[in-house]
Amino acid sequence: MERRIAGIIYILITFALVNEMSINVQAKDNKRRTKEKGGFQKNICDVSDRESKVHCYCETSREPKNATKAECWVFNGGIPRNDLIWQSFASQPTLKTLSFNVRVDGALSYVPTEALQYLKNLKSINIKYGTIPEIQSYAFANLTNLTEALLSQNEIESLRQYAFAHLPNITLINLDENMIVEIGTDVFYNMPKLHKLTFTKNNISSIKDGAFQHTFNLLELDLNKNNIFHLNRRTFDGLANLRKLDLRRNRIYNLTEFTFAELWNLQELLLGKNDLKYISERAFDGLSQLEKLSLDDNKLAALPSGLFAGVRGLTSLDLRSNELHALTLDDIKPILDNLKPQNSNLQLEDNNFVCDCRLEWMHSLRNETRSQNTKTSLNNVTCKMDPPIVSSAYNKMSDVIENKIDYNQEILHAGITIETLNDKMNVTEKKILKDDLNDENDIDAPSKKAVKRNVLKIPPGTLPCPRDNPKTTEPPQLIIDPVVPIQNEMKTFRLRDSNAANIHCRYKLVLLSCFAFFFT
Ligand SMILES: *[C@@H]1O[C@H](CO)[C@@H](O)[C@H](O)[C@H]1NC(C)=O
Ligand SMILES: *[C@@H]1O[C@H](CO)[C@@H](O)[C@H](O)[C@H]1NC(C)=O
Ligand SMILES: *[C@@H]1O[C@H](CO)[C@@H](O)[C@H](O)[C@H]1NC(C)=O
Ligand SMILES: *[C@@H]1O[C@H](CO)[C@@H](O)[C@H](O)[C@H]1NC(C)=O
Ligand SMILES: *[C@@H]1O[C@H](CO)[C@@H](O)[C@H](O)[C@H]1NC(C)=O
Ligand SMILES: *[C@@H]1O[C@H](CO)[C@@H](O)[C@H](O)[C@H]1NC(C)=O
Ligand SMILES: *[C@@H]1O[C@H](CO)[C@@H](O)[C@H](O)[C@H]1NC(C)=O
Ligand SMILES: *[C@@H]1O[C@H](CO)[C@@H](O)[C@H](O)[C@H]1NC(C)=O
Ligand SMILES: *[C@@H]1O[C@H](CO)[C@@H](O)[C@H](O)[C@H]1NC(C)=O
Repeated sequence: MERRIAGIIYILITFALVNEMSINVQAKDNKRRTKEKGGFQKNICDVSDRESKVHCYCETSREPKNATKAECWVFNGGIPRNDLIWQSFASQPTLKTLSFNVRVDGALSYVPTEALQYLKNLKSINIKYGTIPEIQSYAFANLTNLTEALLSQNEIESLRQYAFAHLPNITLINLDENMIVEIGTDVFYNMPKLHKLTFTKNNISSIKDGAFQHTFNLLELDLNKNNIFHLNRRTFDGLANLRKLDLRRNRIYNLTEFTFAELWNLQELLLGKNDLKYISERAFDGLSQLEKLSLDDNKLAALPSGLFAGVRGLTSLDLRSNELHALTLDDIKPILDNLKPQNSNLQLEDNNFVCDCRLEWMHSLRNETRSQNTKTSLNNVTCKMDPPIVSSAYNKMSDVIENKIDYNQEILHAGITIETLNDKMNVTEKKILKDDLNDENDIDAPSKKAVKRNVLKIPPGTLPCPRDNPKTTEPPQLIIDPVVPIQNEMKTFRLRDSNAANIHCRYKLVLLSCFAFFFT
């Protein structure tokens, strides 16, 4: 009897408890619970629990199995990978666009594959401000409909093998502004439609050979602003369809032969703002489709003579802000005709060109090109007037340029040379040249600015040719023996007008040493 009563009480209590619980649950979840195969789940679009670590705002509809877009905020840290919240995404299998916006540092430390696996219709995933040290293998759950993965600013450091794999419709992966250090092999695997892959602003210093061998349909690879210093002929293996490669703002100092040989379809190669000093004559071999090449802001003092023979399709070339002391007709000849149409582009400003006859082709190109950009750039190209004594030693030119002891002599000789030119020219020209000189002449004491001239303001035919190196394929128009101007210069100096004296007297000391030099 006692047993029976105890049993009834037990049953009553249990019933009461269950009832109480279900009332609570109904109240909390606003009667919107859905019964799924896996048991009770929240509708991720309708989470009213303030304690929830994830809140999503859904568009088009909040009804179960009907939303197409969800924007989710992640608030609290340390959500376990197997947290039930991820299962709740099964309540909205029609989602096409999903974004996670992480509001608290460290709140999301992995790609929530657990959630993604239910979203077979998902086309776009965007995660921002997470702290995701590693993208694990198959992180995107082999989703067949996924077309883009946007993962910028997540402090990603490493990418596991197969991190991005079996995504048959993905076209874009954005990994900008992370902390990726290395691109290993087989990170990108079986993504036949991947067209664009971007790594702007990471810390990549190493790209394993063959890292891209499975991304053979990639059209654009962006490695701008990283730490890359070494490339070799296997770095870009497999990228036979690539059209654009952006390597700007890295630390590449040496381009060895066949570095880009695999890139048969490359049209645009951006290498600006690196530390390039050396380019192999065959560095660009294989780039038969290349149209645009930028090498601006590097440290190139010379280009190998056959460099452009490998890239005969080039119509746009940027060599600004290097240390080039010459660019000969022979160098530029393979692409010279490409630089004449209206939409072509040649940029050469801000180099260390030496004023000599090897620059004379610039006059003809300026005359013949229909590209306004090229004209403007050529008009602004400057060269340094070179002390005659150095002319016979062009091979050592980079040494001379770096040698600051020669600086005053350079200025001195520039002045004299200009007067020599004045003898040959008419009055108006003379006036222009003097103005130029005066402009440059605020070089009081410590300024290290050497006298620069606009190449195209020096009449063609008056530029001296380096004696040891008469390297021009055009019939020599007027070759001035470097020795002759020295005598002329002295004569001119004695007969100088007061203006010029003004200029020269400031450099009396240097002048004296110069005379001493002439007479020894
Ligand atoms: C789903 O959303 C559409 C609008 O996008 C609406 O017409 C339809 O009635 C909704 N279905 C359910 C079951 O709520
Ligand atoms: C993917 O998208 C297509 C077309 O939008 C659709 O028919 C299909 O059901 C979606 N889901 C999967 C798993 O392919
Ligand atoms: C994705 O596919 C690979 C290869 O078929 C398999 O090994 C892996 O378990 C799959 N991952 C997911 C999350 O479906
Ligand atoms: C994704 O790719 C599969 C083939 O792997 C195809 O059947 C499906 O229709 C594609 N979905 C979309 C949206 O293109
Ligand atoms: C970038 O990587 C190098 C190692 O290659 C490391 O020393 C450096 O601290 C990293 N920089 C940042 C900002 O993470
Ligand atoms: C650049 O690469 C070439 C070819 O590998 C090599 O001979 C040369 O020494 C390298 N230059 C520097 C500065 O490392
Ligand atoms: C360029 O054109 C001007 C006239 O337009 C002509 O005087 C000059 O000789 C030409 N220079 C060259 C190098 O063709
Ligand atoms: C180049 O020349 C144009 C006018 O021809 C001028 O406006 C521009 O400032 C110059 N640029 C430089 C960098 O000197
Ligand atoms: C200046 O040069 C032009 C041709 O360039 C010439 O016709 C003219 O006579 C010259 N003037 C003087 C004063 O020498």
